[in-house]
Amino acid sequence: MRRAIEITCEAQKELMRKLEPNMTEYQTEAIVEFVFKTNGAEHEGFPSIQGGGPHSCVLHYVTNRRTLVAGDLLVSDIGAEYHGYTADVTRTMPASGKFTPDQRAIYDLVLAAQEAGIAQVRAGKAFRAPHNAAWDVIVKGMKDLEIIKEEGELKRYFMHGTSHYLGLDVHDAGTYGDLKAGSVITVEPGIYIAEGSPCDPRWWGIGVRIEDDILVTGGDPVNLSASAPRKAEEVEALMAK
Ligand code: GLY
Ligand code: MN
Repeated sequence: MRRAIEITCEAQKELMRKLEPNMTEYQTEAIVEFVFKTNGAEHEGFPSIQGGGPHSCVLHYVTNRRTLVAGDLLVSDIGAEYHGYTADVTRTMPASGKFTPDQRAIYDLVLAAQEAGIAQVRAGKAFRAPHNAAWDVIVKGMKDLEIIKEEGELKRYFMHGTSHYLGLDVHDAGTYGDLKAGSVITVEPGIYIAEGSPCDPRWWGIGVRIEDDILVTGGDPVNLSASAPRKAEEVEALMAK
């Protein structure tokens, strides 16, 4: 699993170096899958999700036909499969190389939620603990940004769970009871503000997900995908290279 995840992080980094406006989503897919294959990964663990612009708000988007323009965010959700085990790492990056202030506000909120979620990953915690922590951060942040007024409105913008088991399958089998040392789970909160949403249109089309693969231990969580830049300024710095 460590090797599958490392290859996947390399692919995200290569995409950050190469991404630019006028690239198509299928070309970004080609960049990441080239890295998979040249590093010995036999397969993709699941069809590569390369969602740009409005497609950043579409869960499990795999059509990958858009031509990206400056101002688009790209949600890149990918996993190399190596010797039977799969990774699952998502990074969100601006096609232009720089987040707009509004994109950055959403990005930083998802990152803060993910940090809160990762901090809950340890043996003995409930499987839902990372989700509940991430959810609470996003509720507060979305209220502060005046995108929602009530917690009940958040389901429209954050409509999936934060974690799943990872291993031989991308959504691997597991007990979904209390977390056990030796398991690997994802922590992947997101915010998706589709066009037409009942909020200020300035937010429309912003979709952000950040996903890492976390090893459960009796002590602190181990982020197995930490080598792929995650902070906005780190993403921008690599894209500038
Ligand atoms: N990587 C896709 C998913 O977790 O559903
Ligand atoms: Mn996932």
